[in-house]
Amino acid sequence: MEIRSFEDYQKAYNHSVEAPEEFWSNVARSFEWHKPAETILEWDFHKPEVRWFSGAQLNITENCLDRHLATRAEQTAIIWEPNDPQEAAQHISYQQLHSKVCKFANVLKQNGAEKGDRICIYMPMVPELAIAVLACARIGAIHSVVFAGFSSSALADRINDAKCKLVLTSDGSFRGSKVIDLKSIVDEGLQHCDCVEKVIVLARTHESIKMHPGRDLWWHEELAKAADDCAATVMEAEDMLFILYTSGSTGKPKGMVHTCGGYMVYTTYTFQTAFQYEPGDVYWCTADIGWITGHSYIVYGPLAAGATTVMFEGVPSYPDMGRFWEVVAKHKINIFYTAPTAIRALEKADISFVERHDLSSLKTLGTVGEPINEEAWHWYDENIGKGNCPIIDTWWQTETGGIMITPIAGITPLKPAFATLPLPGVQLALMDEQGQELTGDNIEGRLSIKFPWPSMARTIYGNHQRFKETYFSAYPGYYFTGDGCKRDADGYHRITGRVDDVIIVSGHNLGTAEIESAIDEHHKVVETAVVGYPHDIKGNAIYAYVIGKDDLGDEDQLRTEILRLVSDTIGPIAKPEKIQFVSGLPKTRSGKIMRRILRKIASGEIENLGDTSTLLDPAVVHSIQQGAL
Ligand code: WTA
Repeated sequence: MEIRSFEDYQKAYNHSVEAPEEFWSNVARSFEWHKPAETILEWDFHKPEVRWFSGAQLNITENCLDRHLATRAEQTAIIWEPNDPQEAAQHISYQQLHSKVCKFANVLKQNGAEKGDRICIYMPMVPELAIAVLACARIGAIHSVVFAGFSSSALADRINDAKCKLVLTSDGSFRGSKVIDLKSIVDEGLQHCDCVEKVIVLARTHESIKMHPGRDLWWHEELAKAADDCAATVMEAEDMLFILYTSGSTGKPKGMVHTCGGYMVYTTYTFQTAFQYEPGDVYWCTADIGWITGHSYIVYGPLAAGATTVMFEGVPSYPDMGRFWEVVAKHKINIFYTAPTAIRALEKADISFVERHDLSSLKTLGTVGEPINEEAWHWYDENIGKGNCPIIDTWWQTETGGIMITPIAGITPLKPAFATLPLPGVQLALMDEQGQELTGDNIEGRLSIKFPWPSMARTIYGNHQRFKETYFSAYPGYYFTGDGCKRDADGYHRITGRVDDVIIVSGHNLGTAEIESAIDEHHKVVETAVVGYPHDIKGNAIYAYVIGKDDLGDEDQLRTEILRLVSDTIGPIAKPEKIQFVSGLPKTRSGKIMRRILRKIASGEIENLGDTSTLLDPAVVHSIQQGAL
C-alpha cells in the first residue's frame, strides 16, 4: 500500500507491527524474484540470527535494470556531473546502463571473478563506480567499496580483512582543484596484501602511472575484449550482496555484511516512501558511494525504483561555494539529499552564491549522517527550500542498511531538528541506564530496535562474535544503535548523538581507538586519548591528548608528524583539529580513561568537571586544564 496521507502512514505502521510478515511479503511482491520466499522471517536477537525471505531467489540487478527495460529503457538512469563544470555531464539511460553493467560483469568474469569472491572497489565518483558495483552484483561477487579518501594502510586493512581477489581503481581522481594519485595509494597498500590477483584500472585523470605487469590491467582494454550479454547469477535472498566497513568504538573497522533480498526490498521501499519519489523526478544524493548512503540511496534504492539518480564527482566548494546550487539548477533537481555538515559550510558562504541560481525545481529536501541543528535546518528551509519544500531528516546507519526514522516528505508534520517517526517496520525502544525499556513520551534514553527489519546487517564479516558483542549484548534481545535519543511529548524522536566512542566528524564515523592507535605509533608518543568536541561546521572535531616521551623536541614539528601519521594510517578525515601534549591522563584506579572529563575540557568547559574523586591522580586534571587549547 502506498502511503499518501498521515493516516495511511499510521495504518501501514500498525500493520507492520501487528503482522510484520504479511506487511513485508506484500512489499516484496512488487519485485522480480526467480522464486518466491518460503519463509518471510526467521529471527533470534540473542544468537543473533536474522533471515528474511528464505528460499527466495533473485538478482538485485535484474530489479535495478532488466525489469525497467520494457517501460523506461530510454529514461535516464544516471546523470553524472563531473568535478569540472566545463566537462560535459553524462546522461546514461537504463538501456545503456544495462549494457555497460553486463559488459563490465564479463570483464570481471574474464579475470577470474566468481560468485562469492570479494572485490574491492576504490574509485572516484564516476559512472564506472556505479557500474562496477552493479557488475559485481550481477555475477554474485561481493563488493567492498572503500571510500577513495582512505589511506593506503586503511585500504590494505580492508582488502586483507575481506580477502579480496580483485581491486578496481582508477589512475587518479579529481576533487576540487586537486588531482589525487589513487593508483599509487593502491600500489602502496597492495605491498601488504597477498590475496589480490588483479587490479583493473580506469583511465580518469590520464596522469602517467605505473602498471605492474601480470597484475594490473587497463579497464578500457579489458572492456574491448568483453561480450555484451551477461545473464544475472541467481542468488538466494540471504546470499551476501556486499561488505561495507564502518568504524566502531574499539578495534579495527567492522565489515558490515548486507544480503541480497532484504536489502533490496527495504532500500527501495524506504526510498519511495520517505522521499515520495514520483516517476520523472530527478533525485540527487550528494553522498559518496564509498559510504552506505551512496550504496542505498544513489545506487540500489533509486535504480530499483526506476528513478533518475545523480552522481556528483566534485565537492561543494569548487569552483565556488555555489556549486551545489548550480548543479540543482542545471539538472533541474526535484529531490535533494545532503549532509548537515555541507549545509553548515554553505550557510557560512555569501548568500549570493545561492541567489544567483534558480532553485525552483526543488520540491523535497533531505539530510543524513548526523544531527542537524535548528539554525542549519531553518537556513536550509528558508534559503534552499524557499519555505515550501519539506525537509526529511533521515536517521539511519551503515548497519541498518536503510532509513529508519524520518518524516515522510509532505506527509509527516515537521519539527526542526527532529527525525520524527519510525518508518513502517521499525520498532524503536529507548533504554535507560539499567537496561530497562522506557515507555511513553517525554523520555530520553539509548536508542535500540526490538524487531528485525529486512535490510539490517546480518553479521560482521568473519567475526560474528564481535557482531553479537557490539550490537546485541548491551540490552539482550535488542539491537543497540550506539545513539542517544529523546522522544518528546508528541512522540517525535530527536537523535542526540553517539553515546559510545565513535565521533562523527563532517558526517564520517571515526573510532577514537583507531585514531589513538595511529598516534601511538609515533616513537615519541607514550599514550593518547582522543575525544570529540562540538565544531560549528564539522559537527564534531577531534581533540587528541598526547603523553609524549621526556624529550618532545619541537612541539609544532611533532604535531605535524602526528597529523601526517594519522593521515597515512587512516586518511585526512581523521586528523585531529587540536593536539595537546600532557603529562598524564585522568584515569580511574582500574586504569580506565575518564573521557567525560576530557570531553568537557575539549569543549571549553573548564569549570564543573563533575566528580573526579574516583581518579587515581586528580592533580592530572588541573594540569590538563592549564594547558587546554
Ligand atoms: C548518525 C549514515 C542524527 C548517528 C547513514 C548514526 C544521525 C551514525 C542521522 C551512522 C540523523 C545518521 N540525525 N544522527 N539524521 N543520521 N546519524 O553508519 O550517530 O555513516 O549512528 O550511516 O550517524 O553513520 P553511518
